[in-house]
Amino acid sequence: MMDQNLFSAVDGFIGETIVEEDDGLCGAVEAAEAAGLPSIQVSPPQGKLLQLLVRLVGARRILEFGTLGGYSAILMARALPADGRLITLEAEPGYAEVARRSIDAADVGEKVAIRVGPALEALPALEEEGGPPFDLVFIDADKVNTPNYFAWALEHTRPGGLIVADNVVRNGGLADSASEDEKVKAQRQLHEMIRDDTQVSATTIQTVGVKGYDGFLVALVEPKSG
Ligand code: SAH
Ligand code: DHB
Ligand code: MG
Repeated sequence: MMDQNLFSAVDGFIGETIVEEDDGLCGAVEAAEAAGLPSIQVSPPQGKLLQLLVRLVGARRILEFGTLGGYSAILMARALPADGRLITLEAEPGYAEVARRSIDAADVGEKVAIRVGPALEALPALEEEGGPPFDLVFIDADKVNTPNYFAWALEHTRPGGLIVADNVVRNGGLADSASEDEKVKAQRQLHEMIRDDTQVSATTIQTVGVKGYDGFLVALVEPKSG
């Protein structure tokens, strides 16, 4: 039933036609591979969607949870205007170093700040610094904390802004109410949180592709009422 070769072939065709990876992105993949980072970055078609979303909301300020080798950060930074800024949070210092080099090599270094350390610990400082709210938040770090990151993002994203969470479908685990998997339970909790929140309008899209069967959630922050 699951035909991974076919999913990958279709991503391959999409990559040959409408989604090209430039030298900066290819360089980031190669550097991550050479440094032994896991190959779990967004696929090129998913990355292109992130770029389109950045452009559609006219984002100038982006927050990312989970940098890895900088692949998605480079993609989103490329879609920002010249004065746009992206902050990306990464727990692993070694990953952050690889990402820093690839982001600089891709010529988006001025737009991207990497904060090293567990994301939950970085949030109080971000809060204290103040500044305008984010236009787009991409949640793609440790999956058990996705609901916590989402809750924070909701308070720090402007009305009309987007919150995108990767890896919420988890091979269909999302449908399993008896799942004991903490990562699955967290994604179910996320959906239940959103059900009960009138401040946000959201959907989840299931995906297949080079990364198998998963999916992402897109949430629009509604204007505060009352
Ligand atoms: N967004 C990246 C992929 C991120 S993979 C891309 O598409 O290119 C998930 C990343 O989250 C890994 O690099 C992992 O080290 C990081 N991570 C895991 N736990 C974390 C935490 N508590 N805080 C911040 N980052 C974390
Ligand atoms: C993993 C993390 C991701 O962000 C992803 O897209 C796929 C896999 C992981 O931690 O295994
Ligand atoms: Mg992911």
